[in-house]
Amino acid sequence: MKTPYKVLCVCLGNICRSPTAEVVLRHYCDAQNVNVWVDSAGTSNYHPNKAPDARSQQYAEKRGYNLSDLRARQIKLEDFIEFDLILAMDHDNFTDIQALMRKAVKRYGASYIRSKVALMSEHDPYYKHQAIPDPYYGGADGFERVLNQCESSAQAWVAIFKRDQSE
Ligand code: 4NP
Repeated sequence: MKTPYKVLCVCLGNICRSPTAEVVLRHYCDAQNVNVWVDSAGTSNYHPNKAPDARSQQYAEKRGYNLSDLRARQIKLEDFIEFDLILAMDHDNFTDIQALMRKAVKRYGASYIRSKVALMSEHDPYYKHQAIPDPYYGGADGFERVLNQCESSAQAWVAIFKRDQSE
């Protein structure tokens, strides 16, 4: 088996959006047999080692996704060496990730940095370039929306991965 393409999903807390994105993206990669390894992290360190938010777990479970084994962690400079693609859930995350990448370039040198940074919605035909809104302080519809957007955007990414891996 060839080395997998490595993707890191990133939001603010790593307890709502990015763990959902991680599991949904993994699901569609497995379903389409693409060789991709998926992880997630937060730009903040608000919830180190915490399981995903109970509401995220509950709404994901209704669609058949199990988030219970995931644990939050903060993104680190070494992630820019390890991951091929870093997916930001919203535009603030995108800006924060880019600032961290500049630090990683300074610390390790540009030749060691392999990550491309993009929005989760970069190729999504329905939510193109839209943020996945933070559901933390809102109600049920916010969590359903996270799942809708993650499913839609993940399928768009998997089509890209499949095309790239068949070349
Ligand atoms: P997430 O949501 O970035 O999708 O994981 C949040 C979780 C926690 C907080 C903010 C957003 N917080 O402020 O603790």
